[in-house]
Amino acid sequence: MKTFNSVAALRTQIADWKKAGLRIGFVPTMGNLHAGHFALVELARQHSDKVVASIFVNPTQFGPNEDYARYPRTPDSDINGLAGKACDALLLPSVEEMYPFGTMGCVQMHVPGITDILCGMHRPGHFNGVAQVVARLFNMVQADVAVFGRKDYQQLQVIRYMATEMSFPTRIIPAPTLREADGLAMSSRNQYLEDEQRQTATFIYQTLNFMKDQASLGMPIHGIEAEAKQRLEMMGFVVDYAEIRRSDLSRAIEPNEKNLLALIAARLGRTRLIDNLEFDFA
Ligand code: PAF
Repeated sequence: MKTFNSVAALRTQIADWKKAGLRIGFVPTMGNLHAGHFALVELARQHSDKVVASIFVNPTQFGPNEDYARYPRTPDSDINGLAGKACDALLLPSVEEMYPFGTMGCVQMHVPGITDILCGMHRPGHFNGVAQVVARLFNMVQADVAVFGRKDYQQLQVIRYMATEMSFPTRIIPAPTLREADGLAMSSRNQYLEDEQRQTATFIYQTLNFMKDQASLGMPIHGIEAEAKQRLEMMGFVVDYAEIRRSDLSRAIEPNEKNLLALIAARLGRTRLIDNLEFDFA
């Protein structure tokens, strides 16, 4: 695997691959890679000839009181892991390479509507930062396909919207959520959890299943959401939201509509966890 710190050098490599008729798959990450990320690399490989990953902890998607400074940075083990998955290239840019005029002087992005709900409501500016960095990365890599996990479902929707609306030539491929044996969705933030919190964290997935089961029984949506929130609070979570929505993230009206998903964002101490469960009552 070749590692590139400069976009110019990566572009030369990608231009050579494209000249040879090879398709490029892209996996953007913030590093601290786990099995969930490696599954994204494998999925990208199924849709392309050469896989490019990026590792960049993007400052513009963190709020002032969030974990940008303490976000785990583990480049050596990330590089070994990606090489072990036969990733072909890694873009590892500096903040200066990504934001040549600084993060205050950079072009802003805003995806309207969808960024004002759910995580967007609780993390103002977060999705603007995600859209801003993903647009830059898409321009840098010019991939045929890019893979994003379904665990960050709202992020996936924001990126799909942006890619369609701005005519990016990169096709977005969603990847299923990988879970630990007890159901906890894999996340770099899980390692912040102390032992007891780690056990409590499994309750998020249990509550998502509870929401799904209640919806399948035809229980009213507002009642399900209120009970899910209450259950999480009783376990010690501070709940940002526990909601049932349609797959386009508009509000669900009836529990037995098709293409629904339950979404939870909740905090245990300083650690904010998100997860979702898609369901369908055919
Ligand atoms: O999901 C992530 O890790 C990040 O939000 C992404 C898409 C790499 C943008 O920084």
